Amino acid sequence: MRSTRRTAELTAAALLEIRALSVQFSTGDGPVYAVNDLDLQVRRGEVLGMVGESGSGKSQTWLAVLGLLAKNGHAEGSVRLDGEEILNAPSRTLTRLRGNRVGMIFQDPMTAMNPFLTVGRQMTEVLQWHRGLSRRAAEARCIEALTAVHITDAARRLQMYPHEFSGGMRQRVMIATALLTEPQLLICDEPTTALDVTVQAQILALLDELRQRHGTAIVLITHDLGVVAQLADRVVVMYAGRQVETAEVHTLYGAYRHPYTEGLLRSVPRLDEARAERLATIPGRPPDLAQRPPGCPFAPRCAYAAPICAQQMPPLVALGPEHLRACHYGGALKSEARGA
Ligand SMILES: Nc1ncnc2c1ncn2[C@@H]1O[C@H](COP(=O)(O)OP(=O)(O)OP(=O)(O)O)[C@@H](O)[C@H]1O
Ligand SMILES: [Mg+2]
Repeated sequence: MRSTRRTAELTAAALLEIRALSVQFSTGDGPVYAVNDLDLQVRRGEVLGMVGESGSGKSQTWLAVLGLLAKNGHAEGSVRLDGEEILNAPSRTLTRLRGNRVGMIFQDPMTAMNPFLTVGRQMTEVLQWHRGLSRRAAEARCIEALTAVHITDAARRLQMYPHEFSGGMRQRVMIATALLTEPQLLICDEPTTALDVTVQAQILALLDELRQRHGTAIVLITHDLGVVAQLADRVVVMYAGRQVETAEVHTLYGAYRHPYTEGLLRSVPRLDEARAERLATIPGRPPDLAQRPPGCPFAPRCAYAAPICAQQMPPLVALGPEHLRACHYGGALKSEARGA
């Protein structure tokens, strides 16, 4: 985990500023409200974790930022990269941005790679297209990039096709490709979910190394709180397309204040706890995003809910300089009371 001082050193200057972002999808059954009124910053050089159950709007937030929503999707609000408005920017602007100033890696690199082209061809094209390098110069750069992600025998590997690589190695190739243009921001959507634990640890170590060496800001989307604890400086907890709690990583794990965060953390087996301890899960299901009830979306599942929770949306309130929470409940959480 990062020290408070390091986080403070990151300064308040935001690299990416998201304001009042909403994402809606039109469907045969009416609109789906996937992301609702989201305000968020990514600072230079930080690792921002985003966690939440499946369907909480994690991926759609960043797909909207990058202009990659499905055709039936629509985003509103503002997203500024280094001060420049990029939300719903013309596709030429966004194409230039992606794979240049902003890199992306996804859960399954196979979906982002062309199975019929060699890895070398796919990597060199990025540099030829975005940087105007010759094929020979681009190849030399790609060999360096693969070596940097600890892929040995890189020159030979460039001649190989994606299916000839293991899952972990494909993810390394994706990272190397995303970093070819030295992006300021790297968005990683479940980068290690498909990998076994050992390879997962290697990929996380690699991301950390790259951040430290190049100062790249990283957004780490995952539902694995263990992954976030290892790498993130700050964490955003999403529920039903809303930010319910945001804090520095040690505050989030040690002094969380949202009942949903409590539920999430209690559903993670802790290594220091007796193995026999049963995994707690949050009772109930996430809400239907086609509905927009007036109150807190977590209220129906919340052990602390009061009548107001079903009537009024709790505003996002600062509890400390880096700690935000959207919840009406003012008392102590049960796990705090137990001192857990
Ligand atoms: N094209 C679409 N049309 C309608 N609804 C959509 C579409 N794409 C996504 N959604 C909905 O948007 C909501 C948010 O999805 P999102 O992909 O952001 O979830 P997530 O938090 O990334 O979940 P996971 O952890 O499973 O990846 C979901 O309810 C999803 O069903
Ligand atoms: Mg997702």
